[in-house]
Amino acid sequence: MSEEILRVKDLIKFFKTTQGVVRAVDRVSFSIQKGETFGLVGESGSGKSTTAFTIMGVYPPTGGEIFFKGVKLTGGVKSRPLSLKKDMQMVFQDPGSSLNPRHSIGQIIELPLKVHKLYENNRKERVEEILKMVGLPLDFTRRYPRQLGGGEKQLVAISRAIASEPSFIALDEPTSALDVSMQAKIINTLLRIQKELDLSYLFITHNLSLMRNVATRVGIMYLGKLLEVAPTSEFFIKPLHPYTKMLISSIPVITKEEEKLKPERIISRGEIPSPVNVPPGCAFHPRCVECQEMCSKTEPEMIEVEENHYVRCNLYIDQSK
Ligand SMILES: Nc1ncnc2c1ncn2[C@@H]1O[C@H](COP(=O)(O)OP(=O)(O)OP(=O)(O)O)[C@@H](O)[C@H]1O
Ligand SMILES: [Mg+2]
Repeated sequence: MSEEILRVKDLIKFFKTTQGVVRAVDRVSFSIQKGETFGLVGESGSGKSTTAFTIMGVYPPTGGEIFFKGVKLTGGVKSRPLSLKKDMQMVFQDPGSSLNPRHSIGQIIELPLKVHKLYENNRKERVEEILKMVGLPLDFTRRYPRQLGGGEKQLVAISRAIASEPSFIALDEPTSALDVSMQAKIINTLLRIQKELDLSYLFITHNLSLMRNVATRVGIMYLGKLLEVAPTSEFFIKPLHPYTKMLISSIPVITKEEEKLKPERIISRGEIPSPVNVPPGCAFHPRCVECQEMCSKTEPEMIEVEENHYVRCNLYIDQSK
């Protein structure tokens, strides 16, 4: 029996701005099992980071519920108990700006050990163990962020995240700012420490090919809504939502079987509307090649079409399991 680490239920995060209400995250529901990597994919502005920030308590949710290890989380990050902050960590896209330039790498990794009162008698040794775990040289303890390359900084950010011995890490585009060879190194390190430390990941990216290599299950986001959730391999052999088909049709596939199943190249129609003016009905309908009359009026519910395969699309409303 797998164990659930995180569950969000109908999570909503709206921002009030001078232009109107930004519906950044709108009734998003998913769960993450222990040891699993749940991928969140979507174009820029679809609400991926806001989902992660709201889970982490950076933003108070406008609505909905977040459960961590079965316990409902209330309030923002300030009111969360220290034990929860220890257990939930986040790694950001830009490693440069997330590291204090005045602190040495040793001090950066040691700080969570101090905050959470871990390894009080042998912190220096523990910092070195952590550096070893992520494959960084031990003399990095004396270096400063400005002396490091982008990939090395990201490995320091990952070291800091695992220092508090969390069970869950939200990774927000952790490799998109890096060159391709560094991306592979970081991904391999993340996958290796995931096994070693039994970590569960929320992995955010706009890159479906990358997602295929890291995620066990994937959720596709569009304008603040989840449109499809399925085990990763399903997306490449049986994408259901026209939006997912559009995304998949534009990336290379690996096997001959997939090539046969791959949707015809679907040219992306139109621009993504603003989340201040989300289209009525299905949010994707103005760009959808399979749009029907009802789609501009009726917003479909998320339904389970096959085991563990969920889709929010009017084409499937009669196919609920
Ligand atoms: N603090 C904020 N105040 C107002 N609007 C915000 C705020 N943060 C995000 N938004 C808006 O919410 C929407 C979702 O943004 P978000 O950063 O979550 O998207 P994303 O999927 O992470 O995009 P990207 O791939 O570019 O990182 C966008 O329209 C963004 O402009
Ligand atoms: Mg983002």
